[in-house]
Amino acid sequence: MIEFAHRLETVEEYYFSKKLREVNFLKANGKPIINLGIGSPDLKPPQKVISALVEGMNHEQAHKYQSYQGLPELREAMASFYKDVFEVYVSSSTEVLPLMGSKEGIMHISMAFLNEGDEILIPNPGYPTYTSVAKLLGAKPNFYELEESNNWLPDLEALEKQDLSKVKLMWINYPHMPTGAKANEAFFIRLIAFAKRNQILIVNDNPYSLVLNDSPKSLLGVSGAKEVCLELNSLSKTFNMAGWRVGMVLGKSEFINAILKVKSNMDSGMFYGIQKGAIEALKCTKLWYVSLNNVYEQRREIVWKIAEALNCTFDKDSSGMFVWAKLPAYVKSEEFIDLLLKDKSIFVAPGTVFGSKGEGYIRFSLCATTDDLEEALARIL
Ligand SMILES: Cc1ncc(COP(=O)(O)O)c(C=O)c1O
Repeated sequence: MIEFAHRLETVEEYYFSKKLREVNFLKANGKPIINLGIGSPDLKPPQKVISALVEGMNHEQAHKYQSYQGLPELREAMASFYKDVFEVYVSSSTEVLPLMGSKEGIMHISMAFLNEGDEILIPNPGYPTYTSVAKLLGAKPNFYELEESNNWLPDLEALEKQDLSKVKLMWINYPHMPTGAKANEAFFIRLIAFAKRNQILIVNDNPYSLVLNDSPKSLLGVSGAKEVCLELNSLSKTFNMAGWRVGMVLGKSEFINAILKVKSNMDSGMFYGIQKGAIEALKCTKLWYVSLNNVYEQRREIVWKIAEALNCTFDKDSSGMFVWAKLPAYVKSEEFIDLLLKDKSIFVAPGTVFGSKGEGYIRFSLCATTDDLEEALARIL
């Protein structure tokens, strides 16, 4: 009998991996499913990005192993992106590391900083990967609850009343997924002070910074932040490149070197053509973001109508590619989404995927065409 590692008992298969099997089964059996569940951008990256990938294929070095730290040109493009978008200055040679998606970075950062038994502050609701990675490493999730009444920001004073002596790392993610909440600079300043007082590494996971967000912010923009913070970013949502798997982690060189120590033992560099495409993406001007956000704005208008038709409430002042909607009182998220799937062939994500504080909420993705969204609305009205 070949046994699995004990760590597998700490996690379950990712919710969407399981649920999409069910959704795809219904689809294969002729159900006209409209998928508003998952945040996988359906739009194309800029054409110049695709051309750079294709051209890159013919480069004489293209098919060899690539540098563990990525092409210098890619790191420079990442550093320039941070300067142009966030007014944050990082050294392209020592303070930025390309990743195969920010999801990968969550594992590498955790492996670089956490020992078994260490505690990690994790948002509830929040991205489920923070929790599963913690558990896979034998670290202990310590969930901090986010409340709508506090704009989905952590209550740092309440947190500080806890015993934080075992806490090594805190995940934050603003603009926040799934709620779309934004953090302001005053909060970031308080957070960095909290991190310094308690000697906690704060990692801001920032993949939604440029989607439906008028004022993109980086935690690294706060003075003194580099001492205690890292930031993840990604090309998945900003440039419709989710399947390419390109992200980055930024922070002081000691932290980046620790992550590289893990990562260089796990992969052997990013495909050359992908790096060339990513460089082109990062050089996009403001026009790209404007046209991307015009599409999402139009879609969001229809999603708001769908949410209203379902008697949900929601905050219009939110960012990212989702609409986070509150169900009528006493309605359970999973029961509701199962009914919607069965009766209307519309799939939306139940808030509970993101933690117990997601109960009573559902999440609509904006990664569907206006035609599909109009059709979903018509099915509900
Ligand atoms: C909050 C959050 N972090 C990270 C990721 C992963 O993004 P990437 O494609 O860069 O791995 C996602 C993707 O859905 C996300 O929602």
